[in-house]
Amino acid sequence: MKSISTFEEYKKEYQFSVEQPEQFWEAKAEQFTWKKKWDKVLEWNFSEPNVKWFLGGKMNITENCLDRHLKERGDQTAIIWEANDPNEASKKITYKELHSEVCRFANVLKSNGAKKGDRICIYMPMVPELAIAVLACARIGAIHSVVFGGFSFNSLADRIHDADCHMVITADGGFRGAKDIPLKSVVDEAIKTCPSVQKVIVLKRTKCDVIMQAGRDLWWHEEVKKVSDDCSAEIMDAEDMLFILYTSGSTGKPKGVVHSCGGYMVYTTYTFENVFQYKNNEVYWCTADVGWITGHSYLVYGPLLAGATTLMFEGIPTYPDAGRFWQVIDKHKVNIFYTAPTAIRSLEAMGLNFVKPYKLDSLRVLGSVGEPINVEAWNWYNANIGKNRCPIVDTWWQTETGGIMISPLAGITPTKPGFATLPLPGAQPVLVDEKGIELKGNNVEGRLCFEFPWPGMIRSTYNNHARCKEAYFSTYANLYFTGDGCRRDEDGYYRITGRVDDVIKVSGHLLGTAEIESAINEHPDIVESAVVGFPHDIKGWGIYAYVIQEHSRKDVEELKKEITATVNKFMGAIAKPDKIQIVSGLPKTRSGKIMRRILRKISEGEVNNLGDTSTLLDPGVVEEIVKGKV
Ligand code: WT7
Repeated sequence: MKSISTFEEYKKEYQFSVEQPEQFWEAKAEQFTWKKKWDKVLEWNFSEPNVKWFLGGKMNITENCLDRHLKERGDQTAIIWEANDPNEASKKITYKELHSEVCRFANVLKSNGAKKGDRICIYMPMVPELAIAVLACARIGAIHSVVFGGFSFNSLADRIHDADCHMVITADGGFRGAKDIPLKSVVDEAIKTCPSVQKVIVLKRTKCDVIMQAGRDLWWHEEVKKVSDDCSAEIMDAEDMLFILYTSGSTGKPKGVVHSCGGYMVYTTYTFENVFQYKNNEVYWCTADVGWITGHSYLVYGPLLAGATTLMFEGIPTYPDAGRFWQVIDKHKVNIFYTAPTAIRSLEAMGLNFVKPYKLDSLRVLGSVGEPINVEAWNWYNANIGKNRCPIVDTWWQTETGGIMISPLAGITPTKPGFATLPLPGAQPVLVDEKGIELKGNNVEGRLCFEFPWPGMIRSTYNNHARCKEAYFSTYANLYFTGDGCRRDEDGYYRITGRVDDVIKVSGHLLGTAEIESAINEHPDIVESAVVGFPHDIKGWGIYAYVIQEHSRKDVEELKKEITATVNKFMGAIAKPDKIQIVSGLPKTRSGKIMRRILRKISEGEVNNLGDTSTLLDPGVVEEIVKGKV
């Protein structure tokens, strides 16, 4: 579709999208291959909630990612893959080849009993087969649930269990920097508690030793030999489930965010094309792992739907050294580069000597996602990577929104460092105060909500619709609540100020404090714990854990190490606490509720400004905690 090309055009398109949203989105949907056109564009209410787009429409997203492009760009590269080890050959996979590989693996899934509507868990390293597995699921109408390879067996088991997956697709292991991650053994451990799993398909990547259970575990390379690459796409209803992706919440276990086929397809394409202003034959690189929504929407689906060339990188920004991103950009002549503020800050901290050897002259657009980008990091990115000639798109969105909601259009929207700027056409943000009263006009700060549906939005939380309502649609009546604080400045520009609930953004990863606490509590000597965030120069937020031990052990440092290992084991390295403080009690109200507000203030260093502490059961606890701050 033709993208917006001037700021005037953006304003006009925005206006139209608000006044006539159905006509607006219908026009965007027309370019795709539909087996049957929709009967109705939209049906919705935010009270149940019930949101349906393109009702009655029939399609398959992989026909739109692959088959639709074969005639015009069959020989164009769809995926460029860059290995963890710079000495391992990179790969280029054309649209024709990708189509064939996806169809072949779709047949592997079918020959192993998978069918439309089944949930399939994918736990893989960043190799092309990960994208192939995702698309193969979609090809046969199976619902993929990708779990980030950095999560450990307990988190994996929770997710397999919640979605009742019958199949897991994994690899023997994965390469990440200097480490080999033993994925298959984590799967083995996880499925001890998941009797639903009947088949495990294993890709050989690191060639590490694995145990293959006869009848259950199958090698990818053996299975693909048994089938053809001819697999017609399952016809899906626009509102059939496409995937589940788990995200952390303020309470309890992660929620399985549900996205459906038609709306997600239209929304990721529209936002990809307009935000990045992708031009034919450009090389686009999103550094996110496919285990997160950014990898789903802007590494796999959005770019492939748009017929782009998308780069997938197996490794990490600092391996073999902190110049790796810049080396890869020069090597593959990347035009559009999309990464996270935490990566930018950590590379900035390593110094410019890692940037200097590289030309970076192929770059045209830079992107940022996952957390607020601080002005200093924005300026560094702009000056040293973009050489003051590449527009930066600071894209605000969430797992639940499916695609970008507030962002500049590259080179079109005037930017301001630290601001995600303006809503995309179709996005209708409102700011409200704590009571839900709308804050109209400019120069206001409140909580970010949306008052009208967009095609890519969350449809439900898997197997628990009530939780979806509770988490997103109950705080304020008839609004979708994001959980973020936000300011709208004098120009109507949006600046995200951060989370207002009990989740923390650590290196751009959303982690629930409750989940981290339950991992800590797995340690036999820990009675209770409370986790809050604290500002961290590189990670944005760090994890501060207050823990109460059962018997007072003398070897405090040893205990802290054990706690860290426990979190690593049960949840994964991304959730390891940065600071642990052993305390004898936690600040609680008379009714036994932990007053996290106070703990947050202490961890943020605002010990003289703890606010109202009159409802505390035992104010002495606070004094002790302040004294022992680490
Ligand atoms: C939360 C959603 C968006 C895909 C990756 C994260 C924070 C995200 C920005 C941004 C400020 C941002 C918000 C949001 N966030 N992008 N550009 N500026 N904050 O998806 O894990 O679901 O996290 O990330 O707090 O609510 P997610």
